[in-house]
Amino acid sequence: MAPLLLTLLLLLCLASPPLAAAAAAACGTNTSLVGYEADLWMSQHQLRGRVEVLDGCSFRVAALDLLAGSASARWWRAEGPDLDSLARGAPAAGDPLNRTFLSESLVFRLLPGVSWPLVPVLAAFDPLTSSLFGFVRLSNDSSADSEAPTMFDSCAQLSPRLRVRWTLHGTSDSIDIGLEAAVGSEYYIAFGWAAPGAPEPSMIGADVAVTGFTEDGLPFADDYYVTKYSECTVRADGAVEGVCPDTIYEQGNDTAAGAVNNTRLVYGHRRDGVSFVRFSRPLVSPDKKYDVPVNATANMTVIWAIGLLRPPDSLQPYYLPLGHGAPAGTAFGFATLNVSASGGCVGPLDAEDKEDQDRITAERNTPLVVTAGPSLHYPNPPNPDKVLYINKKEAPLLKVERGVPVTFSVEAGHDAPLYITSDAVGGNATSRNATEVVFAGGARAEGVPAAPAELVWLPDRNTPDVVYYQSLYDPKMGWKIQVVDGGLSDMYNNSVLLDDQQVTFFWTLSGDSINIAARGERKSGYLAVGFGSAMVNSYAYVGWIDGNGTGHVASYFIDGEDGAGVHETSENLTHTRCRSENGAIVFELTRPLSPSCSGRVECRNIVDPTTPLRVIWAMGSQWSSGQLTVSNMHSITSNRPVRVLLLAGTAEAEEELRPVLAVHGFMMFVAWGLLVPGGIMAARYLKHLKSGDLWFQAHTYLQSSAMAVMFLGLLFAIAELRGFSFKSTHAKIGTAAFVLACLQPINAYLRPHLLAENGEILPMKNRVIWEYLHIITGRSAVVVGAIALFTGLQHLGDRYGSKNIKGLTCGLILWVVGVTLVVVYLEFMAARRRRGGGADDLSGKWVLGNTDEDDSVDLLQSTKMESDSIEPMEMQLEPLKG
Ligand SMILES: *[C@@H]1O[C@H](CO)[C@@H](O)[C@H](O)[C@H]1NC(C)=O
Ligand SMILES: *[C@@H]1O[C@H](CO)[C@@H](O)[C@H](O)[C@H]1NC(C)=O
Ligand SMILES: *[C@@H]1O[C@H](CO)[C@@H](O)[C@H](O)[C@H]1NC(C)=O
Ligand SMILES: *[C@@H]1O[C@H](CO)[C@@H](O)[C@H](O)[C@H]1NC(C)=O
Ligand SMILES: *[C@@H]1O[C@H](CO)[C@@H](O)[C@H](O)[C@H]1NC(C)=O
Ligand SMILES: *[C@@H]1O[C@H](CO)[C@@H](O)[C@H](O)[C@H]1NC(C)=O
Ligand SMILES: *[C@@H]1O[C@H](CO)[C@@H](O)[C@H](O)[C@H]1NC(C)=O
Ligand SMILES: *[C@@H]1O[C@H](CO)[C@@H](O)[C@H](O)[C@H]1NC(C)=O
Ligand SMILES: *[C@@H]1O[C@H](CO)[C@@H](O)[C@H](O)[C@H]1NC(C)=O
Ligand SMILES: *[C@@H]1O[C@H](CO)[C@@H](O)[C@H](O)[C@H]1NC(C)=O
Repeated sequence: MAPLLLTLLLLLCLASPPLAAAAAAACGTNTSLVGYEADLWMSQHQLRGRVEVLDGCSFRVAALDLLAGSASARWWRAEGPDLDSLARGAPAAGDPLNRTFLSESLVFRLLPGVSWPLVPVLAAFDPLTSSLFGFVRLSNDSSADSEAPTMFDSCAQLSPRLRVRWTLHGTSDSIDIGLEAAVGSEYYIAFGWAAPGAPEPSMIGADVAVTGFTEDGLPFADDYYVTKYSECTVRADGAVEGVCPDTIYEQGNDTAAGAVNNTRLVYGHRRDGVSFVRFSRPLVSPDKKYDVPVNATANMTVIWAIGLLRPPDSLQPYYLPLGHGAPAGTAFGFATLNVSASGGCVGPLDAEDKEDQDRITAERNTPLVVTAGPSLHYPNPPNPDKVLYINKKEAPLLKVERGVPVTFSVEAGHDAPLYITSDAVGGNATSRNATEVVFAGGARAEGVPAAPAELVWLPDRNTPDVVYYQSLYDPKMGWKIQVVDGGLSDMYNNSVLLDDQQVTFFWTLSGDSINIAARGERKSGYLAVGFGSAMVNSYAYVGWIDGNGTGHVASYFIDGEDGAGVHETSENLTHTRCRSENGAIVFELTRPLSPSCSGRVECRNIVDPTTPLRVIWAMGSQWSSGQLTVSNMHSITSNRPVRVLLLAGTAEAEEELRPVLAVHGFMMFVAWGLLVPGGIMAARYLKHLKSGDLWFQAHTYLQSSAMAVMFLGLLFAIAELRGFSFKSTHAKIGTAAFVLACLQPINAYLRPHLLAENGEILPMKNRVIWEYLHIITGRSAVVVGAIALFTGLQHLGDRYGSKNIKGLTCGLILWVVGVTLVVVYLEFMAARRRRGGGADDLSGKWVLGNTDEDDSVDLLQSTKMESDSIEPMEMQLEPLKG
């Protein structure tokens, strides 16, 4: 036995040196990178840490923070951090990144056969979902940026969901501050130094930076100064108080405004439901008025706050913080900070709601419009430059219900056919993943806006809870679909999307009441839906969630643009409910079709299912019952009302007034309001003038231009509306006026002559009848034409809900009254002339072609018809006939 053992030992002793050598060789001999250090660049999962190359085959990651990835997440090697390079890459180390790392310092070993030259980029990557968590570039090239904006020297935890990180730049006397908070994108984060020397910490006099994200998802950081516990207000005398940007205090003084704005945004992003904004500020600012000097070595009081952000509106061009209603400790607080002391935070911030993406819920009968657009906030980087948009939202999380067919109108281009797949990455996944299941779509579900392709998909009981919509050719253009059981679609018979695809309106008619629900398709504090064609003079229903998380629904009547014009009404609403679905407001109510009361304004709020209901909407950050303030201002509204046909279950957008129709209206006004009356008046009142046949020329010229303008106007309307329809009153009356107008030149041509060819005087009877006919048709034409103008305006109001129809109608009425007054005056003058008899009549008589025997005289005093002055006039006319 012993010899055997000995032999074994000997063998082992002999074998060990070559084994060790083999191990060293596997480790990689290229050690040119040893000692290289770089910060990890964060992309997702709150990855932070500093990578250091230890030797040819291992590396240490110091202070590694990471939210758990899936079991396939690894350290990965690739040519670059982009989508293609990572897809071509391979694992670099064996250890899975499948757990949460809490500021740990760990050593990882490269896989056998992998050496540093094969790892230009070391990434934390999950190949299953193609998710990049973060990366470092490994190269001794000093130009490579080894500082990531998410990495700082120190960190302090201010509240469970808020941290401040900072790096002191002693040489430049400035400090870089990073604010990190697990809050929604609609929140601001404020941090700054309290006024020094105060006996107890106070917000008054504090110099803070307010950071957050605009509605477009862009970060901002602004220098603020606090003079009062209130939102920033500019008083009537121009004084500014509240929590205001430094620049507002110096309004109107451009040099000063430039100098007090000392906070510089460096970087910002939102990932995993965490907002992060980095900015830089001087320790001791040149602005002594609104900035607190920071003593780098002293303990100083800092203040912080988290709250809702009010988007800019017509009154204020800034994103302003709203009051933070919640108690101290979660919404604001004080702390003591010495920026020279180094502190640390443990682990990554873990937000409850990590899905930050826009959400869209598919409804029965409402197609989802799929387009392609640039990627700005794709939820799962790395991402291609072009991604899919649904209803104008970038790669939203789509929610569908089992049993409710989903219709896509695919217009993302010929290179992006839509398909619904089980694979998270998509893009011809079958070529690499044989288990991919395709639920709908394929190469033929492609289209462009001019020719969209329709794709209908019915999720059924066997559809998994999460599937993906993707492009068939390119990976990662789409995102997740959440498949759920039951929802608003099941409870309401009808639904339509309101203007801009931002609000879905649901209703069910039951007997003499109507059940209504509305859902905002974006995060907001309240959702208002109004019945009417504009905000003013509409009946509105507002659903909102208060500071305690309780939902409310109330009814209002709005008669003004500002808060004072919004009056709460006591409509009989029943079954009211309001809740927030991931920040988007949903409210429901039931109301009688016609209120059973009288007298009050809400009693006129009748819903008639047989006529289209005009619906508008608005959303904003904060609402409260009782007194409304500027903070209730909406931040986004519908651009135009949508006409909801309650019985048919459909909706149509209220059309914009087409410019060509405005031209039609204008031309008709010129013809019927100016030229035709002008022509008639010329015939009636110019005959007594001395200048021969002026009246006749004026009459024919005016009336023939009127005919031409009228004809053009008619053609414009027909061309714009693509055809002619007699349905509307305006079309009927307009046609009548046009026909009457057309009769005039015809009967003018057929006018019986007073003198025959041989100079014989013909019988007067025909001529008298003709004159009556001509005059009666002409004047009826003017009356009918004027009516047509009014019906046209009314039609415009009905069809387009245009706001200035009232003004136009008033203008037209004034015009008609004016013309009538002028006619009365001229009539009066003419009568006086006739009564005065003498001079005028006589002078008229001896001018050739001039006569008082004009049409009106013929009509009014037909006995005068037999007057002697007809012949000269006729002689004058004769040559014109041609
Ligand atoms: C991570 O993966 C390893 C190896 O596959 C496994 O042993 C471990 O249980 C996983 N940890 C978690 C938290 O899933
Ligand atoms: C070591 O790898 C680097 C790239 O990482 C390369 O530039 C260098 O030439 C290699 N050195 C040797 C000795 O192979
Ligand atoms: C504008 O600001 C400058 C610098 O703060 C100051 O000297 C000047 O008096 C201000 N002008 C006015 C009109 O307030
Ligand atoms: C402060 O200056 C930056 C540019 O340096 C500008 O983008 C920002 O809008 C300014 N802030 C205010 C409140 O004027
Ligand atoms: C700052 O506060 C810490 C503890 O709160 C204390 O130990 C330290 O002496 C203070 N430093 C100064 C400069 O006051
Ligand atoms: C900063 O604070 C330290 C300690 O509190 C103090 O000694 C020093 O004078 C202060 N510096 C300035 C410029 O105020
Ligand atoms: C999918 O990939 C395979 C091979 O990678 C290729 O032959 C096939 O044409 C691709 N299909 C589509 C629809 O691009
Ligand atoms: C392949 O597709 C299935 C779904 O059908 C998915 O669960 C799996 O993770 C995919 N595998 C890879 C390697 O992408
Ligand atoms: C929240 O609830 C408390 C107690 O129920 C109440 O006093 C307070 O007014 C409520 N706040 C709001 C904003 O409704
Ligand atoms: C609500 O109902 C009550 C009783 O049914 C009635 O007296 C009241 O006028 C109604 N109010 C409205 C606004 O319809």
